[in-house]
Amino acid sequence: MSTRNLIVGISVLAIGSLVAFSSYAEDADKPYVVIDGKVDQATYNGYRRYGDACLRCHGPDAGGSSYAPDLTESLKHMTKEEVEGTIINGRKNVTTSQDNVMPSFGEVEDVVLYIDDIYGYLKARSDGALGRGRPQRIPVPPKN
Ligand code: HEC
Repeated sequence: MSTRNLIVGISVLAIGSLVAFSSYAEDADKPYVVIDGKVDQATYNGYRRYGDACLRCHGPDAGGSSYAPDLTESLKHMTKEEVEGTIINGRKNVTTSQDNVMPSFGEVEDVVLYIDDIYGYLKARSDGALGRGRPQRIPVPPKN
């Protein structure tokens, strides 16, 4: 093997492991902060937005209802892209005789703008990191 080929080979390996590492880091990364049962601002905002836009169908604490699925279960097998795609585009269940519809929120600013916060809240619930009910916020240190 020529030196040039060797260098190319090593760079390909290095890039490969970098890519592998960053996607691992992404998976391991949690989209929420929960400390002693208290949440950061983004997760709290997600809780509030969920209450405004999703609770009436998906039930309190994302636990599901007779009409719409338990999102704490859904998020165990859906990717972030799938979850956010469903929120933006909505979905109609065509596999059962029921006529349950997930509406599209693509035009709803209060959902679209805070979609990552909503995802974070749902993920915290799904991971079991956050219990039921209104979460308490991590106190923000006073500004001097
Ligand atoms: C009008 C009732 C209604 C509202 C409001 C609603 N959903 Fe849904 N959602 C549904 C129904 C019904 C389904 C199941 C649709 C199907 O089976 O195709 C669903 C499915 C989903 C799924 C896919 C679950 C799975 O297991 O495949 C996600 C994720 C989801 N909703 C998130 C949300 C979020 C987040 C909000 C608030 C921004 C929201 N939904 C608001 C009714 C609703």
